[in-house]
Amino acid sequence: MQDIDIVDLKRISELIYQKYNYDFRNYAMSSFKRRVQRIIDLKKLTVDGLLKRLNDTPSFINEFLDELTVNVTEMFRDPSFWRVMREEIIPAILLNHKQFKIWHAGCSSGEEVLSMAILLKEMGILNSVQLYATDLDVNIMERAKMATYPIKNMELNEKNYIRFQGAGALSDYYKEENGMAVFNKDLLANVNFRKQDLVLGEPFNKFDLILCRNVMIYFNQTLQNEVLKKFHESLFKYGYLAIGSKESLIWCDYANRFIVVNNEEKIYKKIKD
Ligand SMILES: C[S@@+](CC[C@H](N)C(=O)[O-])C[C@H]1O[C@@H](n2cnc3c(N)ncnc32)[C@H](O)[C@@H]1O
Repeated sequence: MQDIDIVDLKRISELIYQKYNYDFRNYAMSSFKRRVQRIIDLKKLTVDGLLKRLNDTPSFINEFLDELTVNVTEMFRDPSFWRVMREEIIPAILLNHKQFKIWHAGCSSGEEVLSMAILLKEMGILNSVQLYATDLDVNIMERAKMATYPIKNMELNEKNYIRFQGAGALSDYYKEENGMAVFNKDLLANVNFRKQDLVLGEPFNKFDLILCRNVMIYFNQTLQNEVLKKFHESLFKYGYLAIGSKESLIWCDYANRFIVVNNEEKIYKKIKD
């Protein structure tokens, strides 16, 4: 097993940037290193072998990105967060807008946007909301579009849904086929899936609520600043931003343009342009 050093990581991220226009140069070094190490071990490559594969085989890039990014997710992750969404945040948005837009930035395999669709359906407003679900990793987004997950994942998802205190049972929304939970496709009728790179991509719409949970944790401070600036630009004034429970905005340059709405659940509101 070859140990990777910082110079190797720089060579890898520089090659990906120059050749494929993906910018991992400001990802948090420790997790980037772990992921690259994992790929090298998995593929039984050396650092030079990986560089050569990336350079000579363009079709390898999607597989590489899929392994590099951390796609772990679950439905109704942090159930108390979803209760606050249902009881405080969505009702607050509804006070001013009967129709509104939500962006799931870094949607991974879609469990988060599916949870939101179920929440909105149970509130009777699914058809009034435009949902955008984006990710850098096109392979994982294909899974999101299918809304079909191994049945073994449903135990945790169901547990979360019960703690969220949903209106029925999670199984009301899917049928079991060949060991898979196949969710009702109507839930995703208002979801626009698109590839969107948070680092190099430009703001593409304006939103009332942005969820970017467990994504910025992989970025260094410079990148967190840049991405927060883009979220700020992508939100209507008084729009909401939710990040992951282990993340924080307080060190970011744009933090003073937001107020904390819920510190436990890491929900912020844009108060200044
Ligand atoms: C751990 S998952 C988070 C999924 C979900 N938001 C949640 O909290 O359960 C992180 C996702 O961020 C995506 N991601 C990482 N860097 C990105 C970037 N620069 N632009 C867009 N998405 C990115 C990854 O592909 C991955 O699917």
